[in-house]
This record gives sequence, C-alpha cells and structure tokens, in this order.
Amino acid sequence: MPQPRGPAPSEIKKAARIIKRGGTVIFPTETVYGLGADALNAKAVARIFEIKRRPLFDPLIVHVSDLRQADRLARVSPAARALMRRFWPGPLTLVLPKKKIVPDIVTAGLPTVAVRMPGNKYALALIGAAGTPVAAPSANRFGSLSPTTASHTRSRLGCGADMTLDGGRAEIGVESTVLACAADGFRVLRHGGLPLEDLEPFTGPLDSVIKGGKKPSSPGQLAAHYAPSAGLALLGKKRIRLRKDLKYGYLAFRRAPDRSGLWKRISRTAVLSRSGDLKEAAANLFSHLHTLDKAGVDIILAEPVPELGLGRAIMDRLRRAEKGEGGRRGGTGPGNR
Ligand code: TXA
Ligand code: MG
Repeated sequence: MPQPRGPAPSEIKKAARIIKRGGTVIFPTETVYGLGADALNAKAVARIFEIKRRPLFDPLIVHVSDLRQADRLARVSPAARALMRRFWPGPLTLVLPKKKIVPDIVTAGLPTVAVRMPGNKYALALIGAAGTPVAAPSANRFGSLSPTTASHTRSRLGCGADMTLDGGRAEIGVESTVLACAADGFRVLRHGGLPLEDLEPFTGPLDSVIKGGKKPSSPGQLAAHYAPSAGLALLGKKRIRLRKDLKYGYLAFRRAPDRSGLWKRISRTAVLSRSGDLKEAAANLFSHLHTLDKAGVDIILAEPVPELGLGRAIMDRLRRAEKGEGGRRGGTGPGNR
C-alpha cells in the first residue's frame, strides 16, 4: 500500500535529534506505530515504560536500519543472518544472545535481545538519521489496542511522547512475528505479520511456544493483551446470549450478519475483508476494533477467521483481547494491561 504524504525530511531530522538527545518519538512502521527512544540510553528507554505504563519485566524490540547495527547489539548466528538477509526489512523480530552494549532495561534483564529492521521508509530514515538503534514497543498503553494510524496513538497515549511522525496507515496492521533463535533451533514466540508458511521453508517446521498465562515464554505473551475498552467475545462453539441492557458491536470476517432476529440488536458492524483476504483482514483488524470501541459499545462480538497465514496472528490478537479488560460494563475479564 502506498504511504501517502509522510513526514517531510526536516521533520524526520527533528525527530532524530530528539532521539539522540534522549527523547521519545512515535513513528510509523509497516506493522503498527512504535514509541521509540535511543536503545543505548537507559534513561530514555525508562521513559517509554513510563509513558506506556508497561511493566519492567516486558522487554522491548530494538529497531535497526542496517545489519551492522544488529551486529553491535547481538551475536548473530549464520542461520539468523540468513533470515535477516531474506526477510529484512520486514515484519520479523529475531531474539538473539545480547551483547553488553544493550542496557538491561531494554531486555528486562534477559540474556537475549529482540531485534528487527522495519519495512517502512520513514522508520528507516529516522533510525539512520539518529545513528543509533531505536527501542520501540507498540505506541499504545500497555495491554490495549495497538495503533495502526497516528490518530490511534493520540487517542491511546495522549501527548506522552515528544513528537509524532505521521506516516499514514500501517500497511500490515499486526505486530511483527517474534522468532527465538537458540542454539537448538528456532521457536515462534509471537505470531505476527510474517506468516509461518513464509518462514518455514527457511527454518524447517516451527514449534511455537505461545501459551500466554502467568508465566509465558516470551514476557509479552500475556493471556490478556491487545484489549479494546469494550469487552470482546469471540464467536464460535459456545452460545452467546445477548443482554438487553448492553450495546453490542460486531466484527465480521467477510459479511455483516443479516439484520434480523438477535442481530437487530447490533448497533455497529465492521467487516474485515469482503473478499476473505487475510492480509486485508489483518490490515483492518486494529483500526476496526478502534472504530467499534469508539462507537461506545459494551461488547464486541468477533467472528473467528481461518487460522492460516496472517489468520494466526489475527486469532492470537482476538483471543488475547477476549481475555482483556472485559468491557465498560458487564465484562468478565481481568483488568487491562
Ligand atoms: O511490529 C512490532 O513488533 C512492533 C513495532 C513497533 O515494531 N513492536 C511491538 O513491540 O510489537 P511490543 O513491545 O509491543 O512487543 C514486543 C514483543 C513482546 O511480546 C516482548 O515480550 C517480546 O517482543 N520480546 C522482546 N524482547 C524479548 C526477548 N529478549 N525474549 C523474548 N521475547 C521478547
Ligand atoms: Mg504491544
């Protein structure tokens, strides 16, 4: 998708100066918007945790604009380097043994660091101009919906960051795939913008260790995450009884339900992809959830999508959202993170 009317070179320079001086910048990537700071400046990185209200046990992804920067941060095995050559810039984060230069706050004290080269020209220009790797989580409050436009970041983060670069809509729309690269092989820690089907020809069959819960293998894989303020219920086998006192939104995969029977009670509907294209569905996922959420519904009913390609990342986000905050009213989930 084209990236229309992005930030001017002078804005990117200004943002790079802010990063160099230890400030924070919201910037576009091809997956979701990031909240960035100089990854080698522990104090600047601490500010990210503060703005996002993110717990310090959840490590950040460090964004680079060339392979040499990755080598400064991590020990890159030949197998990992082959993946970088094939998939970077792009929605693949590699978790590698870290080097000393990376402050502990970035990795939450882990011996590994997550690194990725984003496939967005403004992000690459920013990192290049700053001349330092940029640590950046998604630019939302911890646990809430990820932002795929600059305006999502405004509604979700307020004006916590020193500057925002608006690069239009994120073309992929779900976060990067996170892959652990250990001596004994690769493991998927988070399904994301690079589908398993694309990776496996290069890695062999992949195990994923995505369980969530209290002690996840990747600290960010908490069961409750990516939650709208409304509650979310994934439609499927279990029967859902609509309550009279609640306002419902509906997230359809291909077609909005007929406005008859129970479905008359749906006050707002959004369709992920009329043609059933999972890429389009992923690109629309967070922005549709933002829209339904803003419409003030209490519960979003979400249809499942096929679990292949980007469908895995979509279902992962929907399941975690279901376990999230649990609604303005009448929800059941634990508190928002
Ligand atoms: O697409 C993306 O990856 C976006 C854009 C901004 O690049 N970033 C993003 O960051 O989604 P964040 O912080 O929302 O998610 C980072 C994920 C978390 O699940 C975190 O636990 C995991 O990466 N992670 C980071 N470092 C890790 C490490 N050393 N070991 C295991 N997991 C790690
Ligand atoms: Mg996030």
